[in-house]
Amino acid sequence: MTPSTLHHLAAHHGDFDQFAALMQQTASGRFNEVFWGVWRQYVAPALPETGRVVDLGCGPGGLFAPLRARHPDVALIGVEVQPAMLREARAVAVHVRAEILEADLNLPLPLADACADAVTLAHVLHELPWPVPLLREALRILRPGGACLVFDWVRQPLQSYVEGAELDENLLQHFREHCLYTPDDLAFLCQRAGFEVREIIGRRGGRFAMIALARPALAEPT
Ligand SMILES: C[S@@+](CC[C@H](N)C(=O)[O-])C[C@H]1O[C@@H](n2cnc3c(N)ncnc32)[C@H](O)[C@@H]1O
Repeated sequence: MTPSTLHHLAAHHGDFDQFAALMQQTASGRFNEVFWGVWRQYVAPALPETGRVVDLGCGPGGLFAPLRARHPDVALIGVEVQPAMLREARAVAVHVRAEILEADLNLPLPLADACADAVTLAHVLHELPWPVPLLREALRILRPGGACLVFDWVRQPLQSYVEGAELDENLLQHFREHCLYTPDDLAFLCQRAGFEVREIIGRRGGRFAMIALARPALAEPT
């Protein structure tokens, strides 16, 4: 991990252990039936029985178990760099036959071109100050015709973001990071990186969005 990634993540996550625990506790609410409905529509059809899924910024591995339950024979790779997340993800990986790669998403990924049938970026893009190189890498490792799912915070009024929480400097900083992009902005970033945008789905009253993407298939020779 580069010093600038460590600095950025430490500022955003605060206590690494506590944040890893929070991500694990909230996973079932985020990867709920709505998520799996989008998955069934846009990702599952691109994923062969023994295909490969890469979960970029997998955190503590909250996606692994429900994914394994739906796809018993796929290869599952999680990429992560934050030490507490890596520890938790490795503990989960043993039970679900996942492989964990320690890698900084700000750098080129240690994965081959077109090696994945599906790529997920769940609540990750907002954590990168400059996410376009990561999106290009996600496209590179996805095979033509493969599916990608971006799931993230999107712009909302400060009042709804704060809800009942204490409004302080720390919360305002998180607001800046979580609420930078509209759903269309996220789709635009993905499109600029080379993805085909298939659908933009608002989640939880517009607090989050899922963007269903595909790597365009190679054109037939004429
Ligand atoms: C909000 S958490 C989401 C975790 C998981 N995807 C989920 O939805 O439960 C974002 C994750 O992205 C990881 N991440 C952010 N920047 C990263 C980077 N430069 N390299 C590797 N992982 C990164 C963080 O460490 C964290 O685990």
